[in-house]
Amino acid sequence: MLRRLDKKQPESFKFSAKNLSWARKQLKKYPDGRKQSAVIPLLFRAQEQEGWVSKPAIEVVAKMLDMAPIRVFEVASFYFMFHLSPVGSVAHIQVCGTTPCMLRGSERLIEQCKKKISSNPMEVTHDGKISWEEVECLGACSNAPLVQIGRDYYEDLDEAKFSNLISNLISGIKPLPGSQTDRFSSEPNGDLTSLKGKVEEEKNASVSLFSHDFGKKKRSKAKHPAINLEDKPDA
Ligand code: FES
Repeated sequence: MLRRLDKKQPESFKFSAKNLSWARKQLKKYPDGRKQSAVIPLLFRAQEQEGWVSKPAIEVVAKMLDMAPIRVFEVASFYFMFHLSPVGSVAHIQVCGTTPCMLRGSERLIEQCKKKISSNPMEVTHDGKISWEEVECLGACSNAPLVQIGRDYYEDLDEAKFSNLISNLISGIKPLPGSQTDRFSSEPNGDLTSLKGKVEEEKNASVSLFSHDFGKKKRSKAKHPAINLEDKPDA
């Protein structure tokens, strides 16, 4: 899929003081001559600040890492985690459409996006809150079909569950990420066949982290958190 910079670009980009200080700390993790390895975290932080990755943001990151802007653009345009156009301020839903997810019904999820969000990908709803696109394999095929929203995966979806998830987002309810069929992670749907040790935690680590991060984001009022909603009870 061809990914290009958005036609409408802002005049400039500047990291906030907090994000700049965070970025400088990241750079210290890498030895001299290897700072370019920080390109993904810095781009992602720019995206979390602005909601998407603009040309000026790419240029600022390139300058900080002593890279040619085209090299940073190559990274931003390769990975679907980077949005090259403005997306929904509440959530940008990335639906995996690769073979395992397609065999498990991702086309029906895309139909729901067309029906409830917009008939075209990367078109933001009238209120500016939600957008969607189809992406390639998200690396969680055993929990297909799934969607990614910001840092979180919503797995084991079907048409009805996904429709409900979109409705919740639209009406301001925070959906809990992870398996939507209450699987702990990617164990078999029936009984465990190996690694039968008892799991003490109620939720797996990434789902627990979501709840923790969501609380923090709410407190810090981030401009573009992954899901920007009031902390209402989960559906
Ligand atoms: S095919 Fe969808 S996560 Fe791999």
